Amino acid sequence: MKDFDGKVALVTGTTGIGMASAMRLAAGGASILALGIDETANAAMQAGLDRAGAAAWVVTADVSVPDDVASAIAVGVERFGGLDIIVNSAAVHPYGTATSTDFETWNRTMSVNVGSIYLTARFGIPKMIKRGGGAIVNVASVQGHACQQNVAAYATTKGAIHTLTRSLALDYARQGVRVNSVSPGSIRTPILERAARADGASDADIEAAFRRFGEAHPIGRIGEPEEVAELIAFLCSSKAGFCTGSDYKIDGGLTAGIGVK
Ligand SMILES: NC(=O)c1ccc[n+]([C@@H]2O[C@H](COP(=O)([O-])OP(=O)(O)OC[C@H]3O[C@@H](n4cnc5c(N)ncnc54)[C@H](O)[C@@H]3O)[C@@H](O)[C@H]2O)c1
Repeated sequence: MKDFDGKVALVTGTTGIGMASAMRLAAGGASILALGIDETANAAMQAGLDRAGAAAWVVTADVSVPDDVASAIAVGVERFGGLDIIVNSAAVHPYGTATSTDFETWNRTMSVNVGSIYLTARFGIPKMIKRGGGAIVNVASVQGHACQQNVAAYATTKGAIHTLTRSLALDYARQGVRVNSVSPGSIRTPILERAARADGASDADIEAAFRRFGEAHPIGRIGEPEEVAELIAFLCSSKAGFCTGSDYKIDGGLTAGIGVK
């Protein structure tokens, strides 16, 4: 018997940590309903899950749009029989300060990064309660604990995810729905590649930029999406039955120090 046999998992974001989480949960026996905005990435995830022999349906959807989320959950539940797990990994990562971020970008960042978690909770939690409970893991960030310059909107959403996680955990604890977040440091995914490019790296320099980012972490390297997926899978599993309302850092020690020698 595998950890997630008979379980149905909704995963948002079809690359990076979302992709690794879907593959890990599927390896544990879960059926996967995945939502992503990038059709090419969605097709690659569907192919990967099919190759792994998983029951999977990858849907092209904008996770900030209520109808997209509601209808994907309704059809997914019909198809797979219920919903037990939600992993919210989809996000956008614009750069900017309060004065350089336009209002549309600010609102878009809030609605994709935080609004999507509200929407999957709103439409997903009633389905989980019907099954006697479930587990939600929200992918936050170290930037919700201590942030860099020039990421005002993104960092604000990550702090909000910590608070929304606590709020959901308290509201649904007695109905058997556990809610936690994870806060990764730098992880080898497309978002980090974009960060490297924003830092001036060309395609050829990406690995060097990743090594530089890794040096900033006490452990001396960046993390892999599969390492984050393993923590997410633990929090989704019955082994984490007493874990709810908390944030779990997975950051190679990045936020353990104060950066002054
Ligand atoms: N990689 C890191 O270093 C790092 C560090 C801390 C936190 N995180 C967080 O991890 C999560 C996953 O990011 P990642 O690193 O895997 O990068 P990623 O870019 O691979 O994943 C983000 C995914 O969200 C999807 N997405 C964006 N807007 C969407 C929308 N409106 N509807 C549906 N899907 C949408 C993208 O298409 C992409 O697949 C994010 O929440 C990110 O903030 C990443």
